[in-house]
Amino acid sequence: MEDLHFLTFLIASVLSFLLFSQLSCAAHIETITPIQSLTDYGDKTTLISPSQAFELGFFSPGKSKNRYLGIWYKRKPETVVWVANRNDPLTDSNGELTVHDGNLVLLNSTRSIVWYSNVSRNVANSPVALLLDSGNFVLREQESANRDEFIWQSFDYPSDTLLFGMKLGWDLNTGFERYITSWKSADDPSVGDGTYRLSVIDGLPQCVISMGLERKFRTGIWNGVRFSGMKAPFLKVYKILYVFNENDEYIMFENTDPYSAISFIKLSPSGFGEHLVLQNSSTDWAIMYTLPLDPLCESYSYCGANAICTITGNPICECLRGFTPRSQEEWRVLTWSKGCVRKKPLACAKGEGFVKVAAVKLPDMFEVSSDKSMSLKECQEACLKSCSCKAYANSDVTKGGSGCLMWSGDLIDIRDMPVKGSEQDLYIRLSVSEIKSISDANKRKKRNIVFSASLTSGACLFGVALWCITWKLRNRGKAGKTKDEDLDLPTFDLATIVAATNNFSPTNMIGAGGFGLVYKGMLCTGQEIAAKRLSNNSGQGLEEFKNEVEVIAKLQHRNLVALLGCCIQNEERILIYEFMPNKSLDCYIFDGKRCTILPWKTHFYIVKGIARGLLYLHQDSKLQIVHRDLKGSNILLDNNFSPKISDFGLARIFRDDEKESRTKRVVGT
Ligand SMILES: *[C@@H]1O[C@H](CO)[C@@H](O)[C@H](O)[C@H]1NC(C)=O
Ligand SMILES: *[C@@H]1O[C@H](CO)[C@@H](O)[C@H](O)[C@H]1NC(C)=O
Ligand SMILES: *[C@@H]1O[C@H](CO)[C@@H](O)[C@H](O)[C@H]1NC(C)=O
Repeated sequence: MEDLHFLTFLIASVLSFLLFSQLSCAAHIETITPIQSLTDYGDKTTLISPSQAFELGFFSPGKSKNRYLGIWYKRKPETVVWVANRNDPLTDSNGELTVHDGNLVLLNSTRSIVWYSNVSRNVANSPVALLLDSGNFVLREQESANRDEFIWQSFDYPSDTLLFGMKLGWDLNTGFERYITSWKSADDPSVGDGTYRLSVIDGLPQCVISMGLERKFRTGIWNGVRFSGMKAPFLKVYKILYVFNENDEYIMFENTDPYSAISFIKLSPSGFGEHLVLQNSSTDWAIMYTLPLDPLCESYSYCGANAICTITGNPICECLRGFTPRSQEEWRVLTWSKGCVRKKPLACAKGEGFVKVAAVKLPDMFEVSSDKSMSLKECQEACLKSCSCKAYANSDVTKGGSGCLMWSGDLIDIRDMPVKGSEQDLYIRLSVSEIKSISDANKRKKRNIVFSASLTSGACLFGVALWCITWKLRNRGKAGKTKDEDLDLPTFDLATIVAATNNFSPTNMIGAGGFGLVYKGMLCTGQEIAAKRLSNNSGQGLEEFKNEVEVIAKLQHRNLVALLGCCIQNEERILIYEFMPNKSLDCYIFDGKRCTILPWKTHFYIVKGIARGLLYLHQDSKLQIVHRDLKGSNILLDNNFSPKISDFGLARIFRDDEKESRTKRVVGT
C-alpha cells in the first residue's frame, strides 16, 4: 500500500515536472500562501484565474519604469483592470507578494512593506490568495466551508475599472464606500481626479461621474425601472441591478449576453466613462458606448440651470416655461452655460399652478425633498402649499407612478428622455399671469384645432400633388409618355414617423449627413425603415428635397435604394427608405478592423453591384441621371451585402437630347 502511494507520487512528480518545463517561460502559480509567494524577479511568477481570463502579476504601465502589482486580461495584457500599490510604486523589479500574518503584503527589495491588505480580523489560520474568473483577487481561509466568504477581496477596492459583479455603492453597516477612481494618466495609475460613484440622496440613488468637484455626467435617479437618464437598449447587453437591503446599497452590472465575451467599464484619466467589449473573434477592444454618450445633452448641465436640452431640438437648449435666458447675448450665439432665470419671481400667490414637461430626465438632486409614500396628486398639493417648492415629480414610475420629489432651488441637468413605457414627467410651478396665458392659449387652440388639422394634412397632400403636376408639365411634350410616369409615392403622417422612430430618439439615430439626421424606425406593420429627417437649417432646401423625391421615385433597380414614401408636414421634410441592416460601405472601407471582415468575393460583388446601379442611372433608366455625390457613405448594404446607391439630393437629370451640360454650382463629391 505504502509502495503504491509512493509510486503515484513519483509519477505525479515526473508528470508535473514535464508540464512545468514545457511552460517554463511563464511560471504560473495558482495560489499564494505563506510559503508560495509571487515574485517580480527570478521565475517572475504570475497568478492566473482557472479559466485563463485574468492574470495577476507585476507590470509597468505605459512609458513608466515603475513596477506595480495588478490584474489584467490574459488575452490583452495591456488592459489592466486593478492595481494594488497605485500610490506606492516599486522602483525596481524586486517586488514580492506574499501572505504574512493573515494579510497580503507587498515587499520591496529591502523587504519593507510597500502595500498590504490591512485586514484586522485575526481569523486566518491558513490563508490562501487566489484569482477568481470574475477578476476578483481574494484572500480566504484554505479550509473554509463557505467558498464565497473572503477575508479580503480586490473587488472592495476598485481602481478605474468596473467589472461585472463588482459593487458600486455602500456597506450600510460600516459606511464603507466602493467607487471607481481614474488613473492620473496612462503612465501613472495613482489616484486621479475622476470618480464614478453611487450618490444617494434621500434614499434615491444615481451614478455620477465627476472630475474633482465638478460633475461631468449623471445617470439620473433610479425610478424603479431604470436610471431616469439612461435608455433601455443598453439593457440588452447587460443588466443593472440596484440592491438596497439592511446591509448594502449598491448597483452592480450583470452580463446578460453570453457572447459579448468580455467587457468592462473604465473611467479614463480625463473623466470619461467607456464601456469596452472584446468579441471572441476580434483582437481589439471596441467601444460599446461612452459616458456621457454625446458632448451635448448627455454632458452635465449642458444648457445651464432651468433649461431643457433636446438633442433633436433647434435650438438644442430651451428655457423652461416661465423662464428666460440669463444672458440673451450668450443664448444668441448658442452657448448656454449661464442658463435661464424666471421671467417674474413667484409670489406664492393664490392661482399659481403647474405646467407639465413630459418625458424628461429629472433635475439633479439639489435642494430637493422626497416622500416615497405620496401620490402625484398629494405631491402637487404639498408643492403648492410650500412657498419654496418650484417643481415636483413622481420619484417612481412603476405601478402607474408613486412617490414625490419637490425641488426648491434651480433645476439643473434636464433633458428630454422619451423612453416608451417609463416616461417621467416634471411639473414646473408658474406664476398667476403665466398660468392665465396658458389657459387663454388653450382656449384659442381649441377653436383653431379643427381648422389647422385639416390644413396640415391638406398641405402634405397638396405638396405632393403639386410635384406631380410640375413633373407632368416638365415632361409634357415628350413622346411616348405613358400613364405609369405619374408620381405614385405614398405620403406618411408625421405622427406615424414620430411613433416609428421613438420621437426621433437619439438611440435610433443611425447616421448624420450634411442635410440632416437619419433614424432607424419600425412601422406598426413591423417593417423597418430609415427616416431621413432634413434639418431646417441644412443646406438642403426644398429644392434638393423635391429633386431627390422626383428622381428616386422614378427609379427602380435592385442596386438603388428604394424610397417608400415621404412626409411633408409643417416644417418637417422626411424621406422614408427601406432600412439597410449592414450600414454603408464606408464603415467597411475606412474602418481598419471591419475591412478585413468581408471576403474578397463580397468586395467584388459590391463593386459589380455599384457598377450595375450606375449603368442603370446613366444609360438604362428612362431618365438619365448623374448622381454627383457618389461615395462610400452613400452606398448602403442590405442583408446580403447587396449594394444600393442612395442620396439623390444632388443628382441631376439629363434630357434625352442633351449630350453635354454645364453646371454653375459646385456640388457633391
Ligand atoms: C523600500 O521601502 C522602504 C519603506 O517604504 C523605503 O524606505 C526603502 O527605500 C525602499 N527600498 C527600495 C530599494 O526602494
Ligand atoms: C488600516 O485599517 C485601519 C482600520 O480599518 C485604518 O484606520 C488604517 O488607516 C488602515 N491603514 C492603512 C495603511 O491603510
Ligand atoms: C465564440 O463565440 C461563439 C458564439 O458566438 C461560441 O459559440 C464560441 O464557442 C466562442 N469561441 C470561443 C473560442 O470562445
